[in-house]
Amino acid sequence: MEIKVIEDAKNYATEVLVINKFEEEMTSQEIANTYAVEKDGFEGKTGQTYLLHTYGKIPADKILVVGTGKKSEFTKTTMTEVVAKAVKKLNQIKAKKVCFDFSGLNEYGKYAVIGAMIGDYAFDKYKTEKEHHIEEISFANFAQKDVEEGRIFGEAMEFSRNIANEPAEYATPTKLAELASSFEGLSTKIYNKEEVQKMGMGAYLAVARGSAEPPKFIHMKYSNGNPKKRIALIGKGLCFDSGGMDLKPASSMLTMRDDMSGAACILGVMRALNTIKPQDIEIHGIIAACENMPGQNAYKPGDILTAKNGKTIEVDNTDAEGRLTLADALCYASELGVDEIIDIATLTGACMVALGTVASGVMGNDEELIKKIIDTARESGEKYWELPMFDEYFKGLKSDIADMKNTGSRYGGASAAGMFLKEFVSGDAKWVHIDVAGTAFLEKSQGIFIYGSTGAGVRTLLNYITK
Ligand code: BES
Ligand code: MN
Ligand code: ZN
Repeated sequence: MEIKVIEDAKNYATEVLVINKFEEEMTSQEIANTYAVEKDGFEGKTGQTYLLHTYGKIPADKILVVGTGKKSEFTKTTMTEVVAKAVKKLNQIKAKKVCFDFSGLNEYGKYAVIGAMIGDYAFDKYKTEKEHHIEEISFANFAQKDVEEGRIFGEAMEFSRNIANEPAEYATPTKLAELASSFEGLSTKIYNKEEVQKMGMGAYLAVARGSAEPPKFIHMKYSNGNPKKRIALIGKGLCFDSGGMDLKPASSMLTMRDDMSGAACILGVMRALNTIKPQDIEIHGIIAACENMPGQNAYKPGDILTAKNGKTIEVDNTDAEGRLTLADALCYASELGVDEIIDIATLTGACMVALGTVASGVMGNDEELIKKIIDTARESGEKYWELPMFDEYFKGLKSDIADMKNTGSRYGGASAAGMFLKEFVSGDAKWVHIDVAGTAFLEKSQGIFIYGSTGAGVRTLLNYITK
């Protein structure tokens, strides 16, 4: 999809001119006011669309009117959502060349482009019959810079969604490592199994042991100028989570190729940094990639593991593997001495029970950073919600034979997982944990997202870094 900026939409010969209508207001096109609004009573509620032919009255063949709701309630997220919906509609009618002219909303260019790319997204690589895609979108009067930024965000999401949507057979730990190594402008180190062993990552390695796919510990580093801030981003990278010896039932296992969505997010974000080139900042992208499989060599319930920081963990359930891989990744990030650590993970079904597929759960050790991340998410078009970190949740993980167990009660499982992770954050690092179990991968379409990966976290983290 080619994205352009033009100045004069009125005289632009395009297949479909897309205009907006606020509730209680008229549109910028008379013909749309006459037919859509006056004759047919089109109200312009958020996301509603109305298509009309122009019969040669203006240079465009058709007009698509898109509802932008109440003017007082309009936000960046509204922009993303209405443009995504419009693009879906345009693809349905198989439009090839379209032009958006949203009067009075020029400052929202970035969020319109992100919406266009979300709306146009399809994962049809494995389908013989491909989806229809718009060939050219022109936006009237947007700033080139906003469009460029939107494109970078959109491409990062697309990259992330593609890799998370791939079958586990394709998106292996080795594949993730190859991708990470291919990104320009980063210095990247991949640690193989022996090197991971030497680093003392006994929790992560235990999870990886049951699989024929070798684990890859990925460390990407971006650095520009004189870093005033150093951030580590960690993504859960379970390329497949069968549950291990505590095997999942078939129905829960079906989509567990998505258990590397956190990693896919971090890959999308790190890949974009060379284009965005944020100044005076150092950003580490860390992924402890592996598969959780039952196998002759698999780790077992009752095993006692030693993480990189020396703490011991009794394996209560091999299906609580994400926190084990993250434990060692958090130790590694802590040792880098960064200012902030943000991890993103499809960590607990319990988070999904609590917040559904609507919102991601947020925990951490610093209220200010938690609030900043939640606010950034809201601006970015994602919904984050804080979950509690009371000490009682950790008491449930008490073990008779080790420093802690990896699971406790079924109740409050998202918070217990957060408290477990906290044990592996050390030094002065402020830390935030984002549980995207419910939001990263949709089993049925929701809002502007189709079945599959949503690129959860990409927009929020990119906005956070560039702010
Ligand atoms: N990857 C899952 C969590 C998950 C569930 C992600 C549903 C996406 C959708 C995680 O590794 C897991 O299996 N968690 C267990 C933990 C339990 C054994 C304490 C869970 O949530 O059931
Ligand atoms: Mn699991
Ligand atoms: Zn998992």
